[in-house]
Amino acid sequence: MSDLIATATPAAPAAPPLIEVENLSVVYRSKGRQVLAVDKASLAIARGRTLGLVGESGSGKSTIASVILGLVPATSGSVTFDGAPLVRKTRAQRAALARRIQAVFQDPFGSMNPTRKIGETLGEMLRYNLQVSAAEVAVRLESILAEVGMGTEVLDRFPSQFSGGQLQRLAIARALVVEPELIVCDEAVSSLDLSVQAQVINLLARLTKARGLTNLFISHDLSVVTYLSDEIAVLFAGQVVERGPAAQVAYHPTHPYTQALVLAAPVPDVQAQAERRASRLDRGHADQAGDAHALRQSCPFASRCPFIIDICRSERPHLVALPSGARVACHVNAPMAMGVMTEASEETGDE
Ligand SMILES: Nc1ncnc2c1ncn2[C@@H]1O[C@H](COP(=O)(O)OP(=O)(O)O)[C@@H](O)[C@H]1O
Ligand code: SF4
Ligand SMILES: [Mg+2]
Repeated sequence: MSDLIATATPAAPAAPPLIEVENLSVVYRSKGRQVLAVDKASLAIARGRTLGLVGESGSGKSTIASVILGLVPATSGSVTFDGAPLVRKTRAQRAALARRIQAVFQDPFGSMNPTRKIGETLGEMLRYNLQVSAAEVAVRLESILAEVGMGTEVLDRFPSQFSGGQLQRLAIARALVVEPELIVCDEAVSSLDLSVQAQVINLLARLTKARGLTNLFISHDLSVVTYLSDEIAVLFAGQVVERGPAAQVAYHPTHPYTQALVLAAPVPDVQAQAERRASRLDRGHADQAGDAHALRQSCPFASRCPFIIDICRSERPHLVALPSGARVACHVNAPMAMGVMTEASEETGDE
């Protein structure tokens, strides 16, 4: 990953968020069982900024993305886009949001229709979302392909004729050709080889910046998220346990789970890596979502935390704003007395 360019911009004056998720909970009901996938999660992204959402598999990242994309309903809480509640009740509302909020997913092969040529897929996006003329479609496709480093010869080919990295460039082109304001990248580089991953990350970083895009960049890999993000939110068992400026969260993590994520990230030095491995917390990949009430009344990280104290088992910690700029939910590392303000005190209707 050494050829990645760091693109996070210095802290800008606070702008109103383009997207704001407040107290979002999502419960799936399947086979008579309720799964609490997202548990009162709050996050916000100012226009033109990138928020990295990181957490292990099953922590609820894709569920948050799905709510924003209108694929999964919120059980409670709210999502606000550009100052208005995110609703897609009418066809016109769905069409408008489909253009303004675009997504790039993990599997480039699965996300492209294998029976259609690239030109048809991209052209249809333009015609459906922007109602442009055939001549204008050709001009716009040439321009977006150039932006992702490809030529117009690809328009006549089928998805099976491309590598994963090339297809992911085309998926980015498809997302950006309709000039969205927000892009949701859900594990968009996770299936790629490391060298290709670096190229696609750099491409995303460049395009996000050049177009002033707002980016919700989701990955299980903290190092990937750190390169691209202005801010990072760390999700565990559906709860945001730490969030703040990217450098603060990635290099000076406060929450024990974020610390474990940092220790789990590979480092080039073999000896240092062995020491990290020996010292890191027992991770495992157990499904962390679970019974709503059991999780709500304790710290979600309690069963894996070496710093646990009695209160952690009986009281859920709330995000506390620390002088560092980070917000952390931990009774030990961010006790209420240490914070400037708790997230719970800003929220209404918290239990
Ligand atoms: N459609 C579904 N029905 C039931 N449970 C689901 C569904 N989708 C996701 N889950 C569960 O919700 C939790 C969060 O999943 P997900 O949002 O996909 O996490 P992540 O993207 O962080 O891996 C997991 O426990 C997962 O098994
Ligand atoms: S609240 Fe307690 S169990 Fe949870 S992370 Fe902090 S110290 Fe560990
Ligand atoms: Mg996911």
